[in-house]
Amino acid sequence: MLISAASLPAAAIAVSPKAKNMLHVTNCIRPTESEFSRDVVRGLSADVKTLPSRWLYDERGSALFEEITRQDEYYLTRAETSILRERQSDIADFVEPGAILIEYGAGAGVKTELVLAGLRDPRGYVPIDIADGCLAETSKRIASRFPSLWVRPIARNFLDVFEVPFDGSGGGRTGFFPGSTMGNLTAIEAKTLLTQMGRHLGDDGRAIIGVDLQKNVDTLLRAYDDSAGVTSAFNLNLLERINTELGGDFRIEQFRHVARWNEIDKAVEMHLVSLCDQRVTLRGCTFHFRTSESIHTESSRKYTSESFERLARSGGWRVAEAWQDADGLFGLFGIIHS
Ligand code: TRP
Repeated sequence: MLISAASLPAAAIAVSPKAKNMLHVTNCIRPTESEFSRDVVRGLSADVKTLPSRWLYDERGSALFEEITRQDEYYLTRAETSILRERQSDIADFVEPGAILIEYGAGAGVKTELVLAGLRDPRGYVPIDIADGCLAETSKRIASRFPSLWVRPIARNFLDVFEVPFDGSGGGRTGFFPGSTMGNLTAIEAKTLLTQMGRHLGDDGRAIIGVDLQKNVDTLLRAYDDSAGVTSAFNLNLLERINTELGGDFRIEQFRHVARWNEIDKAVEMHLVSLCDQRVTLRGCTFHFRTSESIHTESSRKYTSESFERLARSGGWRVAEAWQDADGLFGLFGIIHS
């Protein structure tokens, strides 16, 4: 049975009570569960089944993702962190003194600390993340490590259209978007986000973007199918989340995590593949899965310097700096809004 997304209740916006301004941390807006249910019903009703990857990051998903970043096969975090360490002063030169750092998809904020520690006199930090538990923790930790910093977390999807509040006093704004998250967006989303970042960061605003680089396919696929099975658990957790939060009856053991290379899109794709012919029900809807039919949960696009430059330009930015790790695995780009 198919039901149209329009028949589901419209998303409401819940505003959480303003927290005490302890450690300069204030609280913010949350997305609602109905958005989740709408996305799941819509994605599983389509001819080619998909689930938006942002729903992978509930509390457990975020914890599993942190574990992925520590796996041997997942070179991305180590490579990016080594660039942030080795180029700390170059990065600080790229960012104006007294800047406000705005991070899109902050997560645990480990890389943020490396950047902030190198900056001259940073004034503010605005982490934006949909996982608000993680966001609160990150905000508190950073506010206590950098006591003079104004910290203003925003708990929402950075692809939504929204404004970033400021405390008024000048200072440049710098965007930070590490972790190859840009590669998880569709071409249209990436362009829209770059345009929104331009609006948030202003004329001559700067941004530091980390993306994974194209390389041999074996290395790429191993990074998304580690031998300890953490990536598999992370992907399958989405089905568990649907069961718990939306009353679904997915039999988790009847699905398998698969990573595939898409040569046309230059992307690693993550799928959940049905191991048998089966039906799943949730929220009064039944979804049929053929044997080997998959749910596409995520794509992770891989760039060259040229393809990244084209993307940046399409969103109104020019590449001013390009840094890589010693093995040329990962790229960190300093871009200027122009
Ligand atoms: N930004 C990460 C990446 O593209 C996200 C990621 C890593 C991911 N491993 C994953 C997403 C597995 C879904 C499934 O590398």
